Amino acid sequence: MGIIVKDKVFTIHTKNSTYQLKVDDKGVLLHTYYGARTDETDYSYTIMAADVGFSGNIAASVDDRTYSLDFFPQEYPVLGSGDYRVNCLEMDLGQGVKDCMLFYDSHTIYSGKYSLPGLPALFAEEGDNVETLEIVMKEDKEEVYVHLLYGVFFDADIITRAAFIENKSGKEVSISRMMSAGVDFSHSDYDMIHFHGRHANERNMERVPLFHGIFELRSTRGTSSHQHNPFVVLAGKNTNEEMGECYGMALLYSGGFHMQAEVDQRGYARLVMGIDDSDLDWRLADGDIFTVPEVMMGYSKDGVGNLSRSYHNAVFHHLIRSKWRDRQRPVIVNNWEATYFDFDGEKLLDIASQGAKLGLDMLVLDDGWFGKRDDDYSGLGDWVVNEKKLGCSLKELVDKVNDMGLSFGIWVEPEMISEDSDLYRQHPDWAFVVPGREPIRGRSQLVLDMTRDDVIEYIEQRLFALLDSANIQYIKWDMNRSLAGTYSGQLRCERQGEVRHRFVLGLYRVLEDLNKRYPELLIEGCSGGGGRFDMGMLYYTPQIWCSDNTDAIERLRIQYGTSFAYPMSSVSAHVSVCPNHQNGRVTPFKTRGICAMQGTFGYELDLSLMSDEDKELAKEQVETFKKHYRLFQFGDYYRITSPFDNPDFTAWEYADKDGREAYLAVVFTDVHGNPLPHMVRFKGLVPDGSYKVYEDGAVIGSRTGAALMNAGVLLPIPKESYDSTSFYVSMEG
Ligand code: DGJ
Repeated sequence: MGIIVKDKVFTIHTKNSTYQLKVDDKGVLLHTYYGARTDETDYSYTIMAADVGFSGNIAASVDDRTYSLDFFPQEYPVLGSGDYRVNCLEMDLGQGVKDCMLFYDSHTIYSGKYSLPGLPALFAEEGDNVETLEIVMKEDKEEVYVHLLYGVFFDADIITRAAFIENKSGKEVSISRMMSAGVDFSHSDYDMIHFHGRHANERNMERVPLFHGIFELRSTRGTSSHQHNPFVVLAGKNTNEEMGECYGMALLYSGGFHMQAEVDQRGYARLVMGIDDSDLDWRLADGDIFTVPEVMMGYSKDGVGNLSRSYHNAVFHHLIRSKWRDRQRPVIVNNWEATYFDFDGEKLLDIASQGAKLGLDMLVLDDGWFGKRDDDYSGLGDWVVNEKKLGCSLKELVDKVNDMGLSFGIWVEPEMISEDSDLYRQHPDWAFVVPGREPIRGRSQLVLDMTRDDVIEYIEQRLFALLDSANIQYIKWDMNRSLAGTYSGQLRCERQGEVRHRFVLGLYRVLEDLNKRYPELLIEGCSGGGGRFDMGMLYYTPQIWCSDNTDAIERLRIQYGTSFAYPMSSVSAHVSVCPNHQNGRVTPFKTRGICAMQGTFGYELDLSLMSDEDKELAKEQVETFKKHYRLFQFGDYYRITSPFDNPDFTAWEYADKDGREAYLAVVFTDVHGNPLPHMVRFKGLVPDGSYKVYEDGAVIGSRTGAALMNAGVLLPIPKESYDSTSFYVSMEG
């Protein structure tokens, strides 16, 4: 199987990678290798001991100045060990200093995957080739134990890591930094690929070389954020989509996070990732345990595209628990950009009846259906249907929508409270506000203190009442601001450094309860679009609204960046009206459809105002999407060109896992006089196979897989700005 232990060397194999740790003669846990699959039994020969000067020597090294943790590769480096690089653990054991030292204590190996109470984690199903390694490290002087957890997903080529700390010291321990994982590399000839952005412009890919010093990304916003995504790739200098080695690290967490990549004095690189430690101060009482979230690590020697596909497969098979993972998701019409807050029951029924004619599956009623909510200044927290606005009860509305052949979904933003709400008037202390200070508002709203049991109970009670009141099959769970002033009236002041993490635990608790009580419910995550697009949320919500930017051309970049870690079946994307509401751009209806089909697909416009021509196109789009659904949801995804590098067109492809069929989409992002010919090459086909080739649904010939993959298909000349086309190939016979 995947984990081999010999002479205190732990060698972990996945199908294509090997990861190795070693307990040395002093009891220190060294990290000796991570890379391509090999059979070497002990990589510690790669570590060069030397007296490099000004590097600490632990007591166990006695007079040996060549033994220093300041440059030895370690598995879980701590502050206080003479290692001056970024570390994984800083804790005060009661002396007012944050020094500690860990030594190997014991280990266990078992079949299956560990789980993390209250936190998302990858899971194994019956028959999966998955094992767990748990290594226990003991603090040198105190009865404090750090458990390092490894989940080995052999077939998926993924290793997970997480950790928990157990305090048996008889006193309180305070933790100010505890990373989920650190990985040391024997050189630093890498680029860091990361995904930055802002609201309505998420996950722009950036590739920068590592440098002597610390490259860091963090979110202190209490959410994973639009600004940075908790997923990074370390790629060799020559690594591209198809070639070269690279490593991925993703955090399964929806709160603030911290990632650091340091190149040290000897040119070694260290990558650490975990929860945001900017204000962390976790007071761990004697007998208690503190657990940090999981990271998902992947390695590919065949380029970043292959790494992404490993992540997609692992997320799909081992992270998404919802029954909707394997089901055909509904093609939705959402009323947000159609009406914003200005709707009544009749308008919604009008949209639904148009949607039924186009073959859509579901109407989603967005913001504005509850309490006093005709704009975004009031009402959050009052999750009671505004029957006056709807002109009927919610059940009556839903029944009518169902009668038209559509299912029904509804928007909620349960973590929030408006000051102008009955809830706030009754419970002003339920909102995060630092006593004696004015609140920091975001979108004119405050955040509920989800560290409190009574708040959680209220949210659940309101959500359950809503879901029990009508035939609701989907909710869109939104969250429209960053956290600030996170003071909880229920915690003593020394414990305020726990609030942001406890908030996330509160969120996960509600989402867990919701999933348990309504296993058939499809939940879409959202945070002003993609402000919380992370692995943590995907554990509870199998799809996430990717961005509040619905412009097809900007979505090319946003969806491209998102595809590095997250399967496209989790990326929610809709066709919206033109000129686009976010940037005023006009794009062909066809192109908007092709871009939205890259993800879960749906519409977000007033269907009754569409031209007859667009309605015909929409019907065709819905048919095309449903026809190729299996390919889109279960196929392998290939980024064919990058919207960041290729100014003329962006292309992507879905190929069946057995290579028998594939769909390739192309969107032209520029037009030229006297245009040049462009070929685009398919991936993932069977070279000897003979394929029927369709362009925009019409047969254009037959080609071998080898021809399609080596020569490719000739792109048509764009007929207008932002034109697009699609190719579908299917193996004959
Ligand atoms: C932000 C979301 O991303 C939008 O799609 C919409 O649901 C609004 N919130 C509603 O307030």
